[in-house]
Amino acid sequence: MTTATAPDPVRAPAATAPRTFSGIQPSGVAHLGNDLGAIRNYVKLQDEYDAIYCIVDYHALTSTHDPDVLRARTGDMAASLLALGLDPDKCTLFVQSHRPEHTELAWLLATVTPVSWLERTPTYKEKRESQPDDINHGLLTYPVLQAADIIIYKATLVPVGRDQAAHLELSREIVRAFNNRYGETFPEPRAVFTDAPTVLGTDGVRKMSKSLGNTIDVLSEPDVIRKQVMSMVTDTQRILRTDPGRPEVCSVCQLQRFFGPDFEELWDGERTARTGCVDMKRVLADRIVRHYAPARERYLELQANPKLVDEVLSAGANRLAPLAADTIAEVRQKMGLR
Ligand code: TYM
Repeated sequence: MTTATAPDPVRAPAATAPRTFSGIQPSGVAHLGNDLGAIRNYVKLQDEYDAIYCIVDYHALTSTHDPDVLRARTGDMAASLLALGLDPDKCTLFVQSHRPEHTELAWLLATVTPVSWLERTPTYKEKRESQPDDINHGLLTYPVLQAADIIIYKATLVPVGRDQAAHLELSREIVRAFNNRYGETFPEPRAVFTDAPTVLGTDGVRKMSKSLGNTIDVLSEPDVIRKQVMSMVTDTQRILRTDPGRPEVCSVCQLQRFFGPDFEELWDGERTARTGCVDMKRVLADRIVRHYAPARERYLELQANPKLVDEVLSAGANRLAPLAADTIAEVRQKMGLR
């Protein structure tokens, strides 16, 4: 896709192609971890599957409480996804709260989900640490809504990064619990990973994440990207420029794998200390800037045309209405709601 155009609003998702679904939080502009860990697979799968992608603003409310910030970040994420290659003629992109059936299904699924499953979820435990003054009920129920997102469209494949594996496992358990109680209704979804399922942040230790402030913002100005890459922590045991490097543990070297076929040669330069960490970071920064230049241009075009982005999002939500309604009707009937 070079320039986004509003999709044909009457195009229905292909009925026969297997369905893929994924969700992404409106955390602002997408970062390198989002792209290498998930978005690359969203783009790949849209060619073969009936692909549905969702900006999960209901989920974001568990941590983001400023309405203007949430609205702006939702637009930024939509523009990021389109700029990074989602094509509204090949996939369906929408905002979660525009299909409120997700929350109805989440309630219905909550009644088959033991609280103990939710309390042991790793992300819930992390959030209890990171926002101890705001342990809202949404944080606990978060994975039930995530299961609803996926299975309301009966999707079977879910492209995600490794950090979502536990949520996906829980979605499968919820499906099994529902099917056991009310009869075979939903397929068990399975995660699909890229070859970079966990991208470390610039600190070299923790997962790249907006909330940890350790991102490489690939759609930002080249100077911002360069500064972020130059701040990356490399092999902490390589003290002197003449010390041999260890590409296996250096996150700069690891990232080179995704930005050129010659990464083995670059690694060799590190191992033999022909190159230093700073040289390696300069090469990586140049490559990231070059690789994302066309996407950055598209991002700026889309930012200048929010109406177009809104049209894509509302056409996406409208297109999904019959699918969501069918599942809700089926589930209501199976559960005995009149
Ligand atoms: P979120 O918004 O945290 O992340 C969006 C996607 O990006 C991946 N990702 C990464 N992959 C590798 N390395 C990283 N450093 C990295 N950071 C982010 C995530 O794994 C994810 O695939 N709970 C989900 C949103 C969600 C969802 C869903 C996902 C809601 N409903 C249904 C799949 C299906 C989340 O918070 O992702």
